[in-house]
Amino acid sequence: MATDLVEAAARVRGLAARAPQVGVVLGSGLGAFGDSLSGLLKLPYSDIPHMPRSSVVGHAGNLCLGQVGDATVACLQGRVHLYEGHELDRVTFGVRLLAELGCRAVLLTNAAGGIQAGLVPGDLMLVVDHLNLMGRNPLTGPNDDTAGPRFPDMTRAYDEQICALAHDAAGALGVKLRQGVYAGLLGPSYETPAEIRMLRTLGADAVGMSTVPEVLVLRHRGVRVGAMSCITNLGAGLSPTPLDHSEVEATARMTRATFTALLGKWVEAVARLVS
Ligand code: HPA
Repeated sequence: MATDLVEAAARVRGLAARAPQVGVVLGSGLGAFGDSLSGLLKLPYSDIPHMPRSSVVGHAGNLCLGQVGDATVACLQGRVHLYEGHELDRVTFGVRLLAELGCRAVLLTNAAGGIQAGLVPGDLMLVVDHLNLMGRNPLTGPNDDTAGPRFPDMTRAYDEQICALAHDAAGALGVKLRQGVYAGLLGPSYETPAEIRMLRTLGADAVGMSTVPEVLVLRHRGVRVGAMSCITNLGAGLSPTPLDHSEVEATARMTRATFTALLGKWVEAVARLVS
């Protein structure tokens, strides 16, 4: 086990009241869920040894520990991205920490551009599979045999039971939940309209610049995964307006109440599933 991870986990364990059952990663503009936890302990990333910090507006940089109902949760409020110039071991440090702290499942969230016909800004899309178009994989290099196998299976990377629980939670709350394939691109430029057409042909329903490396690392470790995209804008060329990060953040914030409620119900159900 990498010593940086051991040191980070030791610091968090020394402060946390209980070991988390479920981890959550909150994407651009989606950080509010972390503040909604009861018994909240909020650790700035600067208090956690070796924890990388994001330079992106809308990514706060706190580890939030607390409860949703009976579920004990560890929540990354903000993540770092490959396009910021971080190496993949840094990009995935946060989710490896969640696994090290004992999370048996991690729910990842992100802001994404909509490609699937009918998706509109503000929609929530359950991710059921992905396309890794980042040109990189965090599992390259010598395999950590203590973490997982050299050639991890990705047939059902997005856990079917966890996906079913998301639909149950959405149904119970009367929230419309779409589902589809997420394409992970390097960024930081948004796509061209031609790239969006290419992605549609390839089978992508939404596009973003995160999540895929985290899923690969978590599945390698045998941690169960679910993921949800907040569709913050239509893919380039699908709407007449140019893309802008402030629009991405504003749409994500607009969905805050619905998103927080749905995520809370989903987390509670997933905690019951894995405990
Ligand atoms: N493309 C890539 N990443 C994104 C987008 C997009 O349209 N919206 C939010 N993140």
